[in-house]
Amino acid sequence: MLFPARSMPSKETNRLTRRRRYQRPGPPQGLACRAVMEALVTGGSGFIGSNLVDALTARGDRVTVVDDLSTGRRENLDGAVEAGARLVEADLRDGERMIAVCAEAQPQVIFHLGAQIDVRRSTAEPGVDAAINVGGTINMLEAARRAGVRRFVNTSSGGAVYGEGRELPAPEGHAVAPEAPYGQSKFAAEGYCALYGRLHGLSCASLRPGNVYGPRQDPLGEAGVIAIFCGRLLEGGRPAVFGDGRQTRDYVFVEDVVAANLAAAASEATGPFNVGLGLETSVLDLLAALDGLSDDGFEADFAAERPGEVRRIALDPSRARAELGWEAKVGVAEGLERTLASLR
Ligand SMILES: NC(=O)c1ccc[n+]([C@@H]2O[C@H](COP(=O)([O-])OP(=O)(O)OC[C@H]3O[C@@H](n4cnc5c(N)ncnc54)[C@H](O)[C@@H]3O)[C@@H](O)[C@H]2O)c1
Repeated sequence: MLFPARSMPSKETNRLTRRRRYQRPGPPQGLACRAVMEALVTGGSGFIGSNLVDALTARGDRVTVVDDLSTGRRENLDGAVEAGARLVEADLRDGERMIAVCAEAQPQVIFHLGAQIDVRRSTAEPGVDAAINVGGTINMLEAARRAGVRRFVNTSSGGAVYGEGRELPAPEGHAVAPEAPYGQSKFAAEGYCALYGRLHGLSCASLRPGNVYGPRQDPLGEAGVIAIFCGRLLEGGRPAVFGDGRQTRDYVFVEDVVAANLAAAASEATGPFNVGLGLETSVLDLLAALDGLSDDGFEADFAAERPGEVRRIALDPSRARAELGWEAKVGVAEGLERTLASLR
């Protein structure tokens, strides 16, 4: 029969029709062969998550965001919601709710970025930190397993799990010695991702970004130094530098972290992946670069070193390059310029 008789639409058909209405014009030329993906992004209203959601909606994917808006902002999703993304306001600690949201959204891929990211809070309230970062990850893994999700891309932290860099740039096999409960909870969450792979065959990768910076970053975040410095520069103020300013980090631009998430989603490679430039940049380097971008000069006030601060770290990105085909494209000089431009 060429034209099947009309029947009442099923619940499933209704869901698909509803989704189709959100669909925007087809993907740009050259991407025509890539199938549209159903994605769920936890922490999608936050700094990195909302940049990822924008990239997914821009290429035509259908996105459900799960976020409790504790540090994320609804307005970060304005453009994405207009393009069809859906925000579910929910807490990762609510396991039943996560199962229901995944069962309804039926994602092929989950990008898990929702987390408690305040290092100081993790020390003050380690139980809360673990409940969100470990318990919340277990809830998402369990929801993913039950919904038959194809791929789980977890965001861990390269800046927080290794502690002091003994081998630089640090490979994924570097000793794990977090300096705060935050790094410990992120590492424990990675362990559960690997366990769900062994136990249930769930395909999981854990990305370990360095210090991420760029548009929409909250100065209170894990890598707030660039956001704070850029803010000070634009106000005409002086930033505080703790210690001698020679402490180093691997600063990675948010667009590159988004690209690493997309590359991980398209791959079947499992385990941890550093997401960084493999380069150490000191606070003094950042000051000098920003000084060069300022018309009036940019100088800092030096204050006492903060106890327990990591002195040097950079992440070896070789594994991500070899197995995910990913590498950072934006150097720190360009990234700073683009971050400043976004704030102006
Ligand atoms: N910013 C960095 O430099 C950096 C570096 C390495 C790893 N990471 C990781 O990247 C991810 C995103 O971080 P970000 O910098 O975008 O921070 P962010 O605070 O902007 O994003 C975290 C998001 O999670 C949401 N969230 C927090 N607790 C929640 C809960 N209980 N239930 C539901 N949602 C909750 C917040 O509202 C927020 O939108 C985190 O997993 C973080 O650990 C960040």
